[in-house]
Amino acid sequence: MAAITLNNGFKMPKMGLGVWRIDRKDVRDIIINSIKLGYRHFDCAGDGGNPLDEDGVLDIDTTISLETTWHAMEDLVSKGLVRSIGISNYDVFLTRDCLAYSKVKPAVNQIETHPYFQRDSLVKSCQKHGICVTAHTPLGGAAANTELFGTVSCLDDPLLQGIAEKYKKTAAQIALRWGIQRDTVVIPKTSRLERLQENFEVFNFELTKEDMDLIRTIDRKYRTNQTCQVLGH
Ligand SMILES: NC(=O)c1ccc[n+]([C@@H]2O[C@H](COP(=O)([O-])OP(=O)(O)OC[C@H]3O[C@@H](n4cnc5c(N)ncnc54)[C@H](OP(=O)(O)O)[C@@H]3O)[C@@H](O)[C@H]2O)c1
Repeated sequence: MAAITLNNGFKMPKMGLGVWRIDRKDVRDIIINSIKLGYRHFDCAGDGGNPLDEDGVLDIDTTISLETTWHAMEDLVSKGLVRSIGISNYDVFLTRDCLAYSKVKPAVNQIETHPYFQRDSLVKSCQKHGICVTAHTPLGGAAANTELFGTVSCLDDPLLQGIAEKYKKTAAQIALRWGIQRDTVVIPKTSRLERLQENFEVFNFELTKEDMDLIRTIDRKYRTNQTCQVLGH
């Protein structure tokens, strides 16, 4: 399995399985099946619950700073309880701040990014500072986010579908391969066995520079995960 080397020397597989929104009763079987297919990276995201109060206003703990939280995570590293620590949904400013106060630099910033939400400057800035970018929602949330948030799926994009036809791949495989070729790690979620396999089969072909450039043109700066939007990420 292709892997990326983190800034602390540990390796992380470039393809992972996102488990958020897999039905609790199905998680066990899906993880066992994915291990059989070769997956070795699991994003065990849970649901943080509703961060809004009864008036629809953000209701978050304002007594603990992100810096304090980060130093507590650094303690876990020094105690040998965890190997790598990272940040998620940090924009350029939060990332810069974290780099300034951290003794252990973040190994990863996990953010929403896909062909409709490319965030090139954030991705490149993280990479420049040795922070691996993991793309959550790497398929733009596909049908799940269309259903939940009413968003448009990049998998239906005619350009992506045209490229898929050319390579005899699916639009999902093109979106994932594009993510891998821009040196991001991708963690698509699926509850379907055939898609577990489909999503994993992105290491046996390469997109040309011309096609990478073409995909660059379909960026819509379009976030699909509206929960992250509410939180201002
Ligand atoms: N850090 C954060 O704030 C954060 C936020 C969101 C997500 N995440 C992580 O990122 C993971 C992935 O994000 P996500 O689930 O929101 O979005 P996603 O992986 O971009 O999209 C999931 C959707 O795509 C469908 N799908 C999967 N493979 C497909 C294929 N080959 N062709 C067509 N459709 C396909 C899935 O349906 P089926 O299941 O029916 O195949 C589901 O509807 C999550 O599971 C979670 O671990 C992290």
